[in-house]
Amino acid sequence: MATRKTALIIGASRGLGLALAEEYCGRDYQVTATVRAPSKALDDLAARFPVSLEIETVDTTEPASVKALKQRLGNRIIDTLLVNAGICLARENTPIDADVNDFVAMMVTNALSPMRVVETFEDQVPPRGIIAVMSSELGSIAANRGFWELYSASKAALNMLMKCFSQRHPGDPRAMLLIAPGWVRTEMGGSQAILSIEESIPAVVTAVEARAGKPGLKFMSRHGDSLPW
Ligand SMILES: NC(=O)c1ccc[n+]([C@@H]2O[C@H](COP(=O)([O-])OP(=O)(O)OC[C@H]3O[C@@H](n4cnc5c(N)ncnc54)[C@H](OP(=O)(O)O)[C@@H]3O)[C@@H](O)[C@H]2O)c1
Repeated sequence: MATRKTALIIGASRGLGLALAEEYCGRDYQVTATVRAPSKALDDLAARFPVSLEIETVDTTEPASVKALKQRLGNRIIDTLLVNAGICLARENTPIDADVNDFVAMMVTNALSPMRVVETFEDQVPPRGIIAVMSSELGSIAANRGFWELYSASKAALNMLMKCFSQRHPGDPRAMLLIAPGWVRTEMGGSQAILSIEESIPAVVTAVEARAGKPGLKFMSRHGDSLPW
């Protein structure tokens, strides 16, 4: 009997992460989805998929919390590791007037912590597995149009750290992905965003799945197209 594929989705209490958990459950994965605090929406999803969905707890910015999750999960195989957790603060500010604490929080949450999660769990991702992190079109330096500056800087930093990770793993057979989901109506994206969650996440998962067995790092759109760095 074929074993079901597994996915670990970090940051699934709401928004895109919650939708990712639903999409992977719908595709018959065995899903572990994490929250920082109880999420009724994810609890409701677990009630719909009692066999497929397991809820775990982690705060990516707390090393002890990440380590504890690692211990609880043991050596299980993770076919798709997808780090989705992120924040957006001070979006209208520029370097001259931004609160330093907001900038630091974004750099820690959006750049450093996702890569620490990747470093912590990558040994459980098999050769045909996928190591993916939620980036953003705004992380592209080449395509920058000068808004949400500090958030954009944190996603550019994430892209650089993922690039460094891939360079430190020459010949690694696994797919490594930086995903840009499009501008989506979530708490972060806001009501003006152009895409619904349903217009983004199923496409994201299809594009991610299509990379299985394809080594190397790709910064890609929800359609799987390469984006300019
Ligand atoms: N929406 C967009 O248009 C858009 C576009 C490009 C990229 N993205 C990226 O996509 C990802 C999800 O965005 P979203 O729109 O769904 O945002 P969201 O609605 O604000 O949800 C953010 C998620 O990240 C979690 N999170 C934040 N900090 C965390 C931490 N330290 N540890 C663990 N979980 C944490 C949140 O958990 P809590 O509920 O506990 O806060 C929540 O589940 C982010 O990385 C974002 O930068 C979004």
